[in-house]
Amino acid sequence: MHRRSLVGRKIVLASHNPGKLREIAELLAPYQIEVVSAGDLGLKEPDETGATFIDNAVIKAEAAAVASGLPALADDSGLAVDALGGAPGIHSARWAGPAKDFAMASERVWREAQAADAKNIAAHFVCVLALCWPALPLGAPVCDIFPGRVDGTLVWPPRGTNGFGYDPIFMARGQTLSFGEMQPDAKHAISHRADAFNKFSAALLS
Ligand code: IMP
Repeated sequence: MHRRSLVGRKIVLASHNPGKLREIAELLAPYQIEVVSAGDLGLKEPDETGATFIDNAVIKAEAAAVASGLPALADDSGLAVDALGGAPGIHSARWAGPAKDFAMASERVWREAQAADAKNIAAHFVCVLALCWPALPLGAPVCDIFPGRVDGTLVWPPRGTNGFGYDPIFMARGQTLSFGEMQPDAKHAISHRADAFNKFSAALLS
């Protein structure tokens, strides 16, 4: 795999999700990296047509690297519920509909999980970070992939107003607070995004 350091460079965060942008910017803050978002550059959001988190992360990062000529970092992530065979998974954002109504999506997750297997509340979050380098002449973009995961359980009713998305209905293993109740630093110490980010930083931020 092709390796270069990102320290001292400008990169694009290939996401239009404000919650993810905030968390990734917080994780990158200690490093000397100039960060711009896809939205700042007026880049369009590509359709997430992949069948896996990896496919979708690469689709987003490749599109932003090609359009901007800068290294681009994308996150594809979601909640996987055991009783639902891993759903909503790559469809986590879609379950919230065009209004991005995560209270409604969380209620659907809980209702369907209870109907499928009321005793099984196991769930995990997945995050795949893809860093795509802009194409060299005559080449295609080259991408590095960093997967992350955090295991835990669903909690109901939703707890806390921190974070975003499904945070209020997820509690990581060994914790007493939901992700929605945790302070950002505490979530960053254990989250799926932090797990992926630690692999990314070991490879590309030293
Ligand atoms: P996508 O990666 O743009 O397809 O969207 C992933 C969706 O998964 C987000 O919109 C959230 O609903 C959910 N998700 C991903 N990471 C988190 C997290 O850290 N907390 C809560 N929800 C998350």
